[in-house]
Amino acid sequence: MRRKLIAGNWKMNCLKEDGLALASAVFQKCSEYKTLPFDVLICPPLSLLGQIASLPHPMTAIGSQDVSLAPKDFGAFTGDVSAEMIKDLGASYAIVGHSERRTMRHETDAVVLEKAKNAQQKGLTAVICIGETEQERESGLALSVVSKQIKGSVPTDSTGDNCVIAYEPVWAIGTGKVPSVADVAEVHAAIRHELANLLGSEKAETIRILYGGSVKPSNAKELLSVPNVDGALIGGASLKIADFWGIAETQF
Ligand code: PGA
Repeated sequence: MRRKLIAGNWKMNCLKEDGLALASAVFQKCSEYKTLPFDVLICPPLSLLGQIASLPHPMTAIGSQDVSLAPKDFGAFTGDVSAEMIKDLGASYAIVGHSERRTMRHETDAVVLEKAKNAQQKGLTAVICIGETEQERESGLALSVVSKQIKGSVPTDSTGDNCVIAYEPVWAIGTGKVPSVADVAEVHAAIRHELANLLGSEKAETIRILYGGSVKPSNAKELLSVPNVDGALIGGASLKIADFWGIAETQF
């Protein structure tokens, strides 16, 4: 049984004061419950990760938004932060291959694969992002694009313990547009199928597949009840506690 994962990707947002207040609000919400029927993850910018992870964070996992591609934990890689260092800060997850990095930083599947491997080798769960552009969807290529991204960027020793997939149609990110329930169901089923081809069906069944792209309290219940949708990766709405928790609350 896959537990749902409610994950916030803060992107390049928040200075110290706002970031610590937002994280504390998430921790406070979680601490109001003895147990939660889902997992919670927040991915603050790296500038705040260590400070946030050093606060008591009941029932909340902390993740980074990226990880170094470098083949070593330490060395002459100016500006990079290794998976080892991210783990040392107190993170247990690392997002890799977000479409903003695939587009703006020209990260290929091969780069995303190496980053995912670096994360997994250090005991971090890699949240591997995939998704088609608007043009690819309009050309009927959505399924073939995500299949190719799975083959190219998911390490072959992935399991539900070290890997999460986030399906984020690029055209739905930050736009307020969301695919139809039927389209989400179709792509998530195709991703599960592709994971089974790559890893075997037993392992594929353990891997959570998140939906991301304009998730809000008003659409979360519907999106998260689609078969094979095992949670949400939330950008804009993760920056306000009322919205982030409003999404989480649809899962009680
Ligand atoms: P959004 O972003 O929720 O603001 O659309 C999602 C993401 O990019 O992870």
